[in-house]
Amino acid sequence: MSLLDKHEKLERNSLLLLGCTILVILIGGLVEIVPLFRMETVIESVEGMRPYTPLELVGQNIYMRENCSVCHSQQIRPLRDEVVRYGHYSLAAESMYDHPFQWGSKRTGPDLARVGGKYSDEWHIRHLIEPRDMIPESVMPSYGFLMKRGATLHDLKYHLRALRTVGVPYTDDMIENATRDARIQATGEDRVDTSGLIERYGEKVNARDFDGQPNMVSEMDALIAYLQVLGTFIDFDAAKDVEGGAQ
Ligand code: HEC
Repeated sequence: MSLLDKHEKLERNSLLLLGCTILVILIGGLVEIVPLFRMETVIESVEGMRPYTPLELVGQNIYMRENCSVCHSQQIRPLRDEVVRYGHYSLAAESMYDHPFQWGSKRTGPDLARVGGKYSDEWHIRHLIEPRDMIPESVMPSYGFLMKRGATLHDLKYHLRALRTVGVPYTDDMIENATRDARIQATGEDRVDTSGLIERYGEKVNARDFDGQPNMVSEMDALIAYLQVLGTFIDFDAAKDVEGGAQ
């Protein structure tokens, strides 16, 4: 019996053909998908990436709670118009510590993947309190209430510990000092000793009173700390050898 004859048998028996097709797809799927579960084989490590500080994490939680991603993406695609407008396209490594990722799928407002450092803290405060003060035709809601709400900091160590179980490399030291680090970051280097925070998260950490209210750590502090760090971890000018190169 030649190979062709065997194939004829398959083609004449629709159930057998269906069964074999499913089997082949299953095997193909396993071969393609299973290796992706091992993150380290998929995501190239890029110099400069670090886990979020506890204060930035609180900010990300507020970003999720307020559902900013319903209007804002955090994903710059490798298309010329995007790269010209927003900067270097997003790398997989840049969202490796986001759980869940904040890519979003809709842009009523601009992409925020590289908004860090684009504006001053004062601009963000005024814009979040009343977007139309800065951009008259803006349809973004007002978030002034964030100024009055104290940020929840006491349970941060559990948050860091949970993230560690899904692969974010928080050390015992970071977990132990989470709440303290958040307070210190929102107070600023001119008023407290930030050396522990810097030792844990690196020299580039922004430590200052983000919202201009020195007596409290507000949700506004946390959200601005988060916004100001978006897209700033990797130095694309220095990292020309990153795949694809800086644009
Ligand atoms: C209803 C849609 C909508 C929601 C929800 C929304 N925004 Fe916006 N956002 C916009 C629009 C439209 C703009 C552009 C006009 C402007 O700057 O106000 C914008 C602009 C911005 C900018 C300036 C970006 C730039 O590069 O100029 C920032 C930062 C921002 N939003 C942050 C946030 C945050 C943080 C939240 C959640 C707390 C949020 N937005 C929720 C619609 C929205």
